[in-house]
Amino acid sequence: MAAGTTTDAQHQGSVEVRREGNVAVVTLRRESKRNALSTHMEAELLRALRTDAVTSSRAVVITGGDTVFSAGADITELRDMTPAAIADYYRESGSVYEVFAGLRQPTVAAITGYCLGGGLELSLAADIRIADPAAVFGFPEVGIGILPSSGGVTRATRILGPGRTRDLILRGRRIDAAVAERWGLITEITSAGEHVATALAIAGELAEYHPMTMAVNKQVLDASINASQSASLVLEQLAYALLNNTAGHGAEQSTGEVR
Ligand code: COA
Repeated sequence: MAAGTTTDAQHQGSVEVRREGNVAVVTLRRESKRNALSTHMEAELLRALRTDAVTSSRAVVITGGDTVFSAGADITELRDMTPAAIADYYRESGSVYEVFAGLRQPTVAAITGYCLGGGLELSLAADIRIADPAAVFGFPEVGIGILPSSGGVTRATRILGPGRTRDLILRGRRIDAAVAERWGLITEITSAGEHVATALAIAGELAEYHPMTMAVNKQVLDASINASQSASLVLEQLAYALLNNTAGHGAEQSTGEVR
């Protein structure tokens, strides 16, 4: 697909996928329910991530549209799930958080409005998070007697550190975009209403790099979080040796800029 080409949106029910050149834009479209992530919607999101529009893209933007990112898991479904049903859930639609985190393409979450619970967990699975000034972040789970369990505890601890994560999770508090930026939960506050356009611009830059360069950088960044320092240093060197000898290195992507 030629750079700059926009395709018509394809709908997987309440999830829309469209292409803007090499960038796939995945939009949650259940605004009347604040994009609450029902198991059905999670399954649709899984399917969306497997469409050609996403798999052949070079970068992915995920958004909830103009008013909300997502109010989290669908609380009407949470009650009465047995431990066995929950284990099945994480093998099925509940795997979407890890599938999204594991995409080889770089991902950007474009956030406005509520970004709570499972919505926050989905955004934490993205590589880069940006938000407009109206964004509100939080983990309301303690209030209903549970905890963030779709990567929330794990990823928030690694992104925010243990102190801020405990403040967020144990108090069930909400923070605004300014605090989120100060804490490093997001890297940029956009002008009002510009979160998707800004995410597209960032994704467009990411899409210009060689896909293998991005994929290997992501793998090493992920692995280094849990690796010992010595193992991580070796991993960096081996990955460099690999990338240095592939099509991604050299003239094809040399822009002359220091990145
Ligand atoms: N699961 C299921 N439905 C949800 C939902 C969720 N997480 N969040 C919102 N909705 C539904 C509401 O039930 C309501 O449906 P209705 O119009 O059929 O009554 C609709 O979305 C709009 O919600 P409403 O509460 O009227 O909107 P609001 O803008 O006043 O408040 C929230 C938005 C997000 C603050 C509020 O809906 C809320 O606290 N939701 C629950 C958040 C939560 O606990 N998430 C984590 C679960 S682990």
